[in-house]
Amino acid sequence: MYPLLRSLLFLLPAETAHHFAFFAIRLSHKIPGIQSYIRSKYKVATPHLRRTVFGIDFPNPIGLAAGFDKDAKAFKELGNFGFGFIEIGTLTPLPQAGNPKPRLFRLPKDQALINRMGFNNGGVNAAVERLKKRKRGLIIGGNIGKNKNTPNEKAHEDYRINFEKLYPVVDYFVVNVSSPNTPNLRALQEKEPLTHLLQLLQTLNESKPIAKPILLKIAPDLTDGQLDDIVDIVTTTNIAGIVATNTTISRSGLHTTTSALEKIGAGGLSGTPVKQRATEVIRYLSTRANGTIPIIAVGGVRTAADAQEKLDAGASLVQVYTGFVYEGPGMVKRILTGLS
Ligand code: FNR
Repeated sequence: MYPLLRSLLFLLPAETAHHFAFFAIRLSHKIPGIQSYIRSKYKVATPHLRRTVFGIDFPNPIGLAAGFDKDAKAFKELGNFGFGFIEIGTLTPLPQAGNPKPRLFRLPKDQALINRMGFNNGGVNAAVERLKKRKRGLIIGGNIGKNKNTPNEKAHEDYRINFEKLYPVVDYFVVNVSSPNTPNLRALQEKEPLTHLLQLLQTLNESKPIAKPILLKIAPDLTDGQLDDIVDIVTTTNIAGIVATNTTISRSGLHTTTSALEKIGAGGLSGTPVKQRATEVIRYLSTRANGTIPIIAVGGVRTAADAQEKLDAGASLVQVYTGFVYEGPGMVKRILTGLS
């Protein structure tokens, strides 16, 4: 069924197809009875896939990665497709339009996407209002970033605002300093500014009645030396873990032609081509930290074997984005069934 739907969706420009699928998912849930039908169709009741990671009980280890439901508009509906958790965002304090379109491209020969969305989102306040209506039960992560016009020296203030506003309505946080589509954002991954940023957020967190897990999302393009720094920083600032990895700026080893890639231009590459590097980063981090830092794996996961590879490399949880676009709504169930 999904291969047919995918052929139709793939006739549309990639971002239009995303909005259409999003709209269809939300609209279909308005039909009486459909919600419980979808939930029962895609749910895998697997008590032994439950796990407790950074103090949160996850019903299963497969989550939806950041960027799919940036504005927290469909987390409830998406939760019915079997996900154990959903990460909303990246959110910024002020709404922003993101980069000019087109800014999302399919690479079918590589089972990949390239995007340069640029944190298009309706701002943290609007998302908080939607999240206030959430029912208990579905675990939600809040992925936070900075507005494009905020200089890096003032970036910590954007992250602080996002943290304060989202604190009452999300279960964990992800600090995103690894998107390649906001100019200079990735410079915040350098040791000094990153330590400062995470220290500030964790101090704020620890002043709350209950501290919530804060994780750091990193790029797959960091060197081993930079990954060593990341392990040091996570340990010294006492944050809860790492999300590895975001999209890559690399274009090596692709089947898509060079001229097609040149036509697409800049952006972050996701899907199958980032799979191996993401696994290497996870294995490196896990080994360096002796398995003491919880890692959420993301990058090129489509099958149960892909998810198992990430868990074997040292991850505690796994997220998907591009695989969900190519494989469709039955993907989470297939992965969970395979894992169990
Ligand atoms: C993303 N990703 C992303 N990550 C993030 O932290 N904040 C974001 O806003 C976005 N936005 C976004 C948009 C689009 C169109 C894509 C394809 C991806 C990155 C995503 O969460 C994930 O880290 C990578 O895509 C790698 O995983 P997959 O896609 O290979 O499973």
